[in-house]
Amino acid sequence: MRNSSKEKYKVAVLGSGNWGSVAAKLIASNTLRNNDFHGEVRMWVHDEILPSGEKLSTVINQTNVNVKYLPGVKLGKNVVADPDLDSSVGKIFAVRDANMLVFVTPHQFVDDVCKRLVGKIPGDVEAISLIKGMEVKVEGPRMISSVISEHLGVDCCVLMGANIAHEIAEEKFSEATIGYRVNTEAAKRWARLFSTPYFAVTAVQDVEGVEVCGTLKNVVAIAAGFVDGLNMGMNTKAAIIRIGLNEMRAFSKRLFPSVKDDTFFESCGVADLIATCFGGRNRKVAEAFAINGGQRAFKELEEEMLKGQKLQGVLTAEEVYGVLQKNKWLDLFPLFRTIHEICTGNRPVSAIISCNEPQLA
Ligand SMILES: NC(=O)c1ccc[n+]([C@@H]2O[C@H](COP(=O)([O-])OP(=O)(O)OC[C@H]3O[C@@H](n4cnc5c(N)ncnc54)[C@H](O)[C@@H]3O)[C@@H](O)[C@H]2O)c1
Repeated sequence: MRNSSKEKYKVAVLGSGNWGSVAAKLIASNTLRNNDFHGEVRMWVHDEILPSGEKLSTVINQTNVNVKYLPGVKLGKNVVADPDLDSSVGKIFAVRDANMLVFVTPHQFVDDVCKRLVGKIPGDVEAISLIKGMEVKVEGPRMISSVISEHLGVDCCVLMGANIAHEIAEEKFSEATIGYRVNTEAAKRWARLFSTPYFAVTAVQDVEGVEVCGTLKNVVAIAAGFVDGLNMGMNTKAAIIRIGLNEMRAFSKRLFPSVKDDTFFESCGVADLIATCFGGRNRKVAEAFAINGGQRAFKELEEEMLKGQKLQGVLTAEEVYGVLQKNKWLDLFPLFRTIHEICTGNRPVSAIISCNEPQLA
């Protein structure tokens, strides 16, 4: 009965970083136009005090701009910043009455966010993850959509693509891919929620394929940054991207045999890989790491260069390395292996081109 005239779909965006804010903007433009959705979009803000002494959430609500993570861009009057994720004290909180949850925090925080939501949302809520990353435990790796589904008992789609957030904020055309499991209607609804004339969304029935692509490309982007920092030129960079794509495909299929080859040709695959290896923050910070001869740690560079934004690729490289080590696959994935060994200071940056073509069957 969700979609009766009495009860519309109500959306909450959980996360308010660079991409979270752009996602809220996209969604808010559609909820105003489409009667299936409640107009107001609540955006949960992990609150912080700005240098002015004000709370970020307060300033977002006063100015309609996320001054820290997306300065200069109006989010839409119907976006309400809410620092209270799950209150059982206050009457208003971010996920209250929401039946479509958009998860868009950096991946290291999603476990905590989910734990806070356990028991507070009904099982018929639909979720989508825009988060790139995985969780690696002794039992094995879990993609973030599985973390969300398992904690909360809800179906979780994913949305990934060549989506450098500030370009979409400027309404430059781009594409994205939704991965869904079985619920075609839910996938169409998510596509309606996100699609705009400058943001073209398609859906494929391959959650793991879409999500693993979105996750692993951040690792390859670290290698692309090393190549740029060493000034090795475009041929080398193209070679690294090609080897990276090959390892992405082989790794995905070993973890999830259901992953479809076609998915790599969607926006979440090769397009996102290209965009990230040329334009993203992982490439940029890895380039600085290489220019500094590996003498300045990624953590230090992240803090200096990203100003609160989070680097995902180095952490994901470590997680991928853990999976390779556990499964005795290290020799099969020389690029992924080398990237982590460089990031941890165990090999020089120049080792990035020493990885020979693996046997990936
Ligand atoms: N920025 C992009 O261009 C882009 C594009 C596509 C996908 N993504 C993915 O979207 C996800 C979110 O990235 P982003 O760019 O919106 O974030 P960001 O890196 O710009 O910002 C970091 C966010 O983390 C929040 N945060 C800090 N500590 C926290 C905590 N303890 N608990 C919860 N939140 C905390 C901060 O408040 C801030 O909102 C990531 O998985 C990223 O890979 C980003």
